Amino acid sequence: MSLLRLDLISASPEQTQAWGAVLGELAQPGDVYALVGDLGSGKTCLVQGIGRGLGVLEAIHSPTFVLANEHKSGRLPLYHVDVYRVTSAAEAVGFGLEDYVNGEGVCVIEWAEKIREALPPERLKIVLRHLGESTRGLRFEGQGERYEVLLIEFERRIRLGDATRN
Ligand SMILES: Nc1ncnc2c1ncn2[C@@H]1O[C@H](COP(=O)(O)OP(=O)(O)OP(=O)(O)O)[C@@H](O)[C@H]1O
Ligand SMILES: [Mg+2]
Repeated sequence: MSLLRLDLISASPEQTQAWGAVLGELAQPGDVYALVGDLGSGKTCLVQGIGRGLGVLEAIHSPTFVLANEHKSGRLPLYHVDVYRVTSAAEAVGFGLEDYVNGEGVCVIEWAEKIREALPPERLKIVLRHLGESTRGLRFEGQGERYEVLLIEFERRIRLGDATRN
């Protein structure tokens, strides 16, 4: 399958959220974004930005006692899934992951590597890692044509944003 990569360094939570917002603006029904990264690497921060870009009105927090939160106040439904406590892909299927992945909304999954077998082969993978106190590495991998196109447009938009600020 075709693959496109984009490596970025975020200098602040605001920057991570701003990039998430661009993704939220570009999102299409059925998109799946698989987030991978340690505790505190910025996954939820990025989802908050995606929600902002989709026009979600309510606050976005990690779903702690449930595995998924559904936000329906934006342009498209946002399914915010967090499988930190899940130990197998089978368990994720048991709580209805399929409905989120195959739904008409945007499905964003924290700790996605735990349920890799249950994910569609075509997806946007985002790997986050700590670099410093307020810096994070974000690696975007578009797996499949939809996500390559998405990443090309995403990169164009964030470069444009940089140019406007300078
Ligand atoms: N450049 C940055 N991008 C994102 N978050 C950052 C950045 N710099 C510092 N932070 C801080 O790192 C923390 C990231 O927390 P967040 O809840 O988003 O992480 P997470 O990956 O979802 O963690 P968890 O695995 O616990 O769900 C926040 O406190 C945020 O302010
Ligand atoms: Mg989180």
